[in-house]
Amino acid sequence: MLKKSLTIAMVSAITFGFIMITAGVSLAKNVGPETFKLTQVKRMGSITFTHRKHQGRFECKTCHHTKAADGTKGPYVAGQEALCNTCHKGKRFPRKMMKFCKTCHKKMKKEGKNPPVRCRGCHVK
Ligand code: HEC
Ligand code: HEC
Ligand code: HEC
Ligand code: HEC
Repeated sequence: MLKKSLTIAMVSAITFGFIMITAGVSLAKNVGPETFKLTQVKRMGSITFTHRKHQGRFECKTCHHTKAADGTKGPYVAGQEALCNTCHKGKRFPRKMMKFCKTCHKKMKKEGKNPPVRCRGCHVK
């Protein structure tokens, strides 16, 4: 009798554990890939953007935002991170994106960090 209830307790513990693991996986946040290869600029060489490392340094809202109903830049909404070209399709965007990266790198450099600020630091052949 004792053996039987022990078995039942064990089975339910295992089942509960399994449900928790499954729930944990489905609730886990999508943090996107570890790195991105930015290859739009053939002439300069492609860039490996270290997404995960940057996630460890800054909040998501530093780089991600949404589009407001009036077409202006909307606030960051968790779970709505998207590829930049979902909204930024223009030819001028690569340059704006570069400026976005560089502006922070220059600021961080002044603060004693060591991010790449020279062309070849980002555009690696
Ligand atoms: C320093 C800037 C930066 C930070 C901080 C950052 N990301 Fe990103 N993330 C990017 C860029 C840039 C891309 C897209 C590259 C592209 O469009 O090719 C991206 C793409 C993604 C994607 C892929 C979207 C898709 O549809 O494939 C997800 C998901 C994502 N980020 C989630 C996050 C989350 C969650 C955080 C915070 C924990 C975060 N990111 C922090 C810059 C950043
Ligand atoms: C859901 C749509 C959407 C996504 C996705 C998106 N943006 Fe934007 N972004 C906008 C809107 C709208 C504006 C304001 C209007 C504009 O400048 O195009 C804006 C403005 C900007 C600006 C300022 C542009 C300027 O003229 O100075 C930068 C830089 C920028 N976004 C970078 C990014 C980056 C990097 C990503 C990818 C991680 C990204 N955006 C993803 C909608 C989006
Ligand atoms: C909000 C500030 C910020 C933004 C935006 C940002 N970076 Fe960085 N980046 C950093 C810092 C800080 C470091 C690390 C400096 C150090 O290690 O001392 C770094 C390091 C790097 C490195 C070296 C590898 C590594 O991760 O240690 C590369 C390559 C890089 N960034 C590319 C980019 C590109 C491309 C973009 C734009 C898509 C970008 N970064 C946007 C702050 C930023
Ligand atoms: C902090 C990283 C970083 C540094 C430093 C950097 N770039 Fe870029 N650059 C980028 C990113 C990101 C893009 C957009 C790439 C994409 O969209 O695929 C870009 C795009 C470009 C483009 C294409 C612009 C367009 O209009 O299509 C050129 C040209 C370029 N870079 C040249 C340079 C030169 C020259 C230097 C040195 C003076 C330099 N870059 C330094 C990150 C950087």
